[in-house]
Amino acid sequence: MSIAPQPLQAFRASLLHFHADPAFQPDAFAWHQDGLLLVEDGKIKAAGDYASLIATLAPGTPVRDYRGKIIMPGFIDTHLHFPQTDMIASPAPGLLPWLETYTFPTERQFGDPAHAREVADFFLDELLRCGTTTAMVYCTVHRESVDAFFEASAARNLRMAAGKILMDRNCPEFLCDTAEGGVRESEELIRKWHKQGRAMYAITPRFAPTSTEQQLRLTGELARAYPDTFIQTHVSENPDECKWVQSLFPQARSYLDVYDSMGLMRERAMYGHCIWLDERDFARMAESGAAAAICPTSNLFLGSGLFDFERADAARVALSLATDVGAGTSFSMLQTMNEAYKVARLKGSYLPAVRMFYLATLGAARSMQLEGTIGSFVAGAEADFIVLDPKATPLLARRTERCENLEELLFALALLGDDRAVDATYACGRQVHQRRPSSI
Ligand code: GUN
Ligand code: ZN
Repeated sequence: MSIAPQPLQAFRASLLHFHADPAFQPDAFAWHQDGLLLVEDGKIKAAGDYASLIATLAPGTPVRDYRGKIIMPGFIDTHLHFPQTDMIASPAPGLLPWLETYTFPTERQFGDPAHAREVADFFLDELLRCGTTTAMVYCTVHRESVDAFFEASAARNLRMAAGKILMDRNCPEFLCDTAEGGVRESEELIRKWHKQGRAMYAITPRFAPTSTEQQLRLTGELARAYPDTFIQTHVSENPDECKWVQSLFPQARSYLDVYDSMGLMRERAMYGHCIWLDERDFARMAESGAAAAICPTSNLFLGSGLFDFERADAARVALSLATDVGAGTSFSMLQTMNEAYKVARLKGSYLPAVRMFYLATLGAARSMQLEGTIGSFVAGAEADFIVLDPKATPLLARRTERCENLEELLFALALLGDDRAVDATYACGRQVHQRRPSSI
């Protein structure tokens, strides 16, 4: 997509963005009740109070009026599978039968570039409808699925991380690559896509059970050779899976240790789920700079378990929220917050709404080493932002009218909101979604 230079744009609304984690710092965010966001050439120029910033604009500069709504950085979903779009909400008693019955047969179709592109287009538009502007995405074992995804993402000028799944055992033959072949194809895809426009490559071993030791070792070497790529995989999601890993890798101290011993723990490594990690594992996550993607709707749907916020926070692990579609049951990060809140309660923890919005924006950007690029309104950041409507539905309007402070307002949006609460989505200052009134 060719991007013409954009003149200065101004947006008036309430503004919210973070500069720290509210769990550890009390004044972690900026809130401008009557705010102005200035965007130039797709980047943030300034974010502040309307009264002070309006004076800096040349007379006659148009101001897009979103008063009554909230502008914040676009959501970042750090773990989901685009090929599983069409099988979301497929019933199965747990992770392993769900993979066998639905996931593998569905993923088989992604060797067909036309099918992959059609699903990628729908998937990205659905993310934008939900206010998600960046995601870490699993493709399938087919290189065509990666090409289709990044082509669809480039057509919308989105900052996306994605990669080809590596899988050379314990999977159907039609999805099986070889240790060397999978890593060679991954390297070719890195050279083709990584840092092309806004694309970022994620080296993607599916999970330990579907890779031989040799494939994991070669994958670790690839990750060392390309240190600014991402790594993404699943770890400690489900008790049966954990037992399986123990039997496949009896020498490993823990499931996480399998990846660690292969050189797969480093900054820009995103570990999905992290439910059954022990204290040593969490300490190792923090020490290595690897990050945990928390997937509450998926974990409740598959009955995998409850993420332990207290333990993760005690170790100061980098955290973010993720949908894990298609095991996740919604594309909406607001609905993901809703379930994260309940998971925390069931574990005896408490997740304030401000923390949940931090985890879905700056927390995710930090987890991906992208602070200053996305996830906040610091000057120079890419202007990916959303406009949330606290009156999007009759119930939201009724509830938010009665909110007495920001925490209550954000909490109502998280618990009652979904795609309907996203009035508009912008990527690099260009509008990429507008909610139609009929979609209420
Ligand atoms: N573990 C290995 N593959 C998958 C997957 O596709 N989804 C989930 N939730 N867990 C996995
Ligand atoms: Zn997943």
